[in-house]
Amino acid sequence: MHGRRIAVVGATGSIGRQALEVIAAVPDLSVCALTSGSQPLDGLAAVYGVEHVQVGGDPTNVLERAAPDVVLNAVVGFAGVGATLWALEHGITLALANKESLVAAGDLALAAWQRGKGLLLPVDSEHSALLQCLDGHHPGTVQSVVLTASGGPFRNRSRDDLESVSVEDALAHPTWSMGPKITIDSATLANKGLELIEAHYLFGLDYDRIEVVVHPSSVVHAIVRFRDGAALAHLGYPDMRVPISYALTYPERRATEIPGLDLAAGVSLEFEAPDLERFPLLALAREAGERGGTFPCAFNAANEVAVRAFLAGRIRFVEIAGLVEDALDGVEGAPVRDLAELVAVDEEARRLAERRLAPA
Ligand SMILES: NC(=O)c1ccc[n+]([C@@H]2O[C@H](COP(=O)([O-])OP(=O)(O)OC[C@H]3O[C@@H](n4cnc5c(N)ncnc54)[C@H](OP(=O)(O)O)[C@@H]3O)[C@@H](O)[C@H]2O)c1
Repeated sequence: MHGRRIAVVGATGSIGRQALEVIAAVPDLSVCALTSGSQPLDGLAAVYGVEHVQVGGDPTNVLERAAPDVVLNAVVGFAGVGATLWALEHGITLALANKESLVAAGDLALAAWQRGKGLLLPVDSEHSALLQCLDGHHPGTVQSVVLTASGGPFRNRSRDDLESVSVEDALAHPTWSMGPKITIDSATLANKGLELIEAHYLFGLDYDRIEVVVHPSSVVHAIVRFRDGAALAHLGYPDMRVPISYALTYPERRATEIPGLDLAAGVSLEFEAPDLERFPLLALAREAGERGGTFPCAFNAANEVAVRAFLAGRIRFVEIAGLVEDALDGVEGAPVRDLAELVAVDEEARRLAERRLAPA
């Protein structure tokens, strides 16, 4: 691997900071651009000797100037769409943490990827695991894939208990330390719903070939089932620096500080079916993905509005799914032909979701 210059888009977040740690530890990797939503970047730019920085707004101008070898998209939410489409269109390797952009802009992203012919490497641990388990296998031999979910902090709470859980309870994820939006998505299982749609676009699999199973210890990240009855699983301690490092150094594997599994100390391999009644967002995401067109974008937009409202104390945890469902009911399904149409769909779904919010 020759020197790789990496643009870290969303550098101030949980993934962005872990990516900077990984880059600092690998001599062949360097940072050529940094962006954030609103936090200043002067400190990070000085530490990493980066000239191209941007706070807020469209990151594509700074990406054009920096001409990176790899774009690591670690923005949260729909705001990541611009960087995803830019990298795919230009055939620049995209290390994608920002799953929302692939969910919302799936068809546009696939078209841009086909034109650009670059690499699209998932950073999400489950999809990184799938990429590795699928490697070298003919697609015709794959029966289905399995995404594992920790089940979040409320896995064992009853429907009644969920009525009164607090923001603080929802932010206490049992196995992963992450930014607030994905932590809430993990508690509602919307995150696994987004990942289902992400897997559909990344690996070209129909939805009936993507299973979700709850696996509380988060040691098995994903499983591929083959037609001969064999199944390959990817295991490791839950630490995002592993899939970040894999995406940034692909196809090599560089050493990391993360320890290998201590099997003798005991590793829990329990699995159970997700409860779609207590966590309806997983079923809603599957339905939005299957309907395609504008629906995945609308699902994502309404979910972003609902999560923000929950974090701001405007709605209760159990109201998140209802808000998304109501917004989806108002969406007209149609193919999305360009970015302007996608932005309009996103805005309309946000408007529908916000209309149903109680006044602050
Ligand atoms: N955290 C994890 O372990 C994990 C695991 C798998 C996948 N992911 C995915 O990775 C992405 C990032 O997650 P995270 O947990 O790192 O989120 P985070 O900690 O909230 O960080 C989000 C980053 O996005 C930037 N940002 C926010 N709004 C923006 C906007 N409108 N325009 C441009 N930049 C904006 C933030 O900048 P400011 O700091 O200036 O607001 C920050 O740098 C998400 O899509 C998430 O689903 C995360």
